[in-house]
Amino acid sequence: MHESIEVFEATPEVEEYRELRILTGLSHKSTEAAVAGLPNSIYAVALRNAGDLVGMGRVIGDRGLFLQVVDVAIHPDYQGHGLGKLVMSKITAWINSNTPATAYVSLIADGEATSLYKQFGFKPTAPQGAGMALKVGTIS
Ligand SMILES: CC(C)(COP(=O)(O)OP(=O)(O)OC[C@H]1O[C@@H](n2cnc3c(N)ncnc32)[C@H](O)[C@@H]1OP(=O)(O)O)[C@@H](O)C(=O)NCCC(=O)NCCS
Repeated sequence: MHESIEVFEATPEVEEYRELRILTGLSHKSTEAAVAGLPNSIYAVALRNAGDLVGMGRVIGDRGLFLQVVDVAIHPDYQGHGLGKLVMSKITAWINSNTPATAYVSLIADGEATSLYKQFGFKPTAPQGAGMALKVGTIS
């Protein structure tokens, strides 16, 4: 599996990004949102097989104080072969080399993904602090 995978430190294109999110069960993102957001990644990993996007992860934030790991996703046909760990190892290596001490790196872990992130040093914020989120355009 790993032999045919190429690792790029680059942000995916808009349409393949939107497609991968849906394929992996993550929420739909509009083209407008992806066009505005993707270029502002401060670090991104894209995994490709014969050019096709099969996995990704991004870091966003202010580069010094607060960063967030987002869009960690591996195509369903490629899950369970260590590619999620490959994405997280690239992300944590980049953070450790490019981020000052005292920076706070957070993420929202969906379901079983907590066991992936724990392997890279992330700890649940609950019960001391609960993650909170606002989805724009969904308030009725
Ligand atoms: C979560 C996800 C990125 C893991 O990628 P992966 O390539 O399948 O994971 P790996 O093979 O590298 O395994 C890494 C760890 O993930 C965990 N894991 C295994 N299967 C998993 C699954 N179906 N879902 C979530 N996590 C899983 C395990 O802890 C595993 O570590 P271990 O093998 O030492 O126990 C991938 O399943 C995915 O894209 N899921 C859908 C999208 C998603 O939930 N993204 C995370 C949003 S927070």
